[in-house]
Amino acid sequence: MRHLVGIPELSAPELSAILERTSEIAKGAIFSFPGAVALAFYEPSTRTEMSFLRACQLVGAAPLRLLPERASVQKGEGPEETLKTLLAIGAQVLVIRTPEPLLPHRLSHLGLSVVNAGDGAHQHPTQALADAVALSRALGELGGRRMLVVGDHLHSRVSRSTVALSVRLGMTVELAGPPDLLPEGFAEMLGATRSQDFEASLAQADVVMALRIQMERLGSVGAGDLAAYRREWGVTAERYQRLGAQPWLMHPGPANLGVEIDPELVDLPRSLIRRQVTAGVQVRAAVLSLIGEALS
Ligand code: CP
Repeated sequence: MRHLVGIPELSAPELSAILERTSEIAKGAIFSFPGAVALAFYEPSTRTEMSFLRACQLVGAAPLRLLPERASVQKGEGPEETLKTLLAIGAQVLVIRTPEPLLPHRLSHLGLSVVNAGDGAHQHPTQALADAVALSRALGELGGRRMLVVGDHLHSRVSRSTVALSVRLGMTVELAGPPDLLPEGFAEMLGATRSQDFEASLAQADVVMALRIQMERLGSVGAGDLAAYRREWGVTAERYQRLGAQPWLMHPGPANLGVEIDPELVDLPRSLIRRQVTAGVQVRAAVLSLIGEALS
């Protein structure tokens, strides 16, 4: 395994190797990657960047953190030139978050191993893997289980990654959300189906994942719109408490608390939201160690 650019590009043996390695790391096994990992985050991040830094510590890699606001991107340097510079400095892996869809794919041909930490609204493969790991720890076998994903699918790389991987792992996945954030044909493109009735889908789900309303990609959204969104599509405490069998709760974070999910749900025993983050560290350590083995 040289790169991780997206869920569709991930082969079955690579997927099995990552899941197995993650499980070993979670049990305390030590794997090493005695090289340098460049982290270039051109969009804000807390979970992904911090967990890659922690993953570097776990596998003994040296993180080289490129801060775009202080880097030569400010002097007009493009990503290809930055990548070749990082290679010349001695990095073996580039972990990149970018607003530009498919940039990680393009960069993966230039000599460094590339891990996509989120490219625009396209892919976020380590998030999908973390979600699958957290979910399988809660549910056991995922095949045949029902997942409902509600929110802003249009702008979501998590939707495109986590839904695709959940379908691939045998889950029955329904998508819900307002028509302008869940376009016609979107669910089918990912092997999922569109929910015809949010409340009914919620009542049948083993797990519900709320997606962030991506304010920064929506333009101006008024508070009135957000209150209406919460009423119609929010995973609210009232809606959740009404359910007979309560589904597991997920959110990739960061959440607009009180919009797509109510704050009092986040730390319930049936919430996997913190466990998604913890699984993310282990998945990222697994990916780095497997790439390290492929490079040695
Ligand atoms: N889920 C996720 O990618 O979160 P961050 O933007 O904080 O990394």
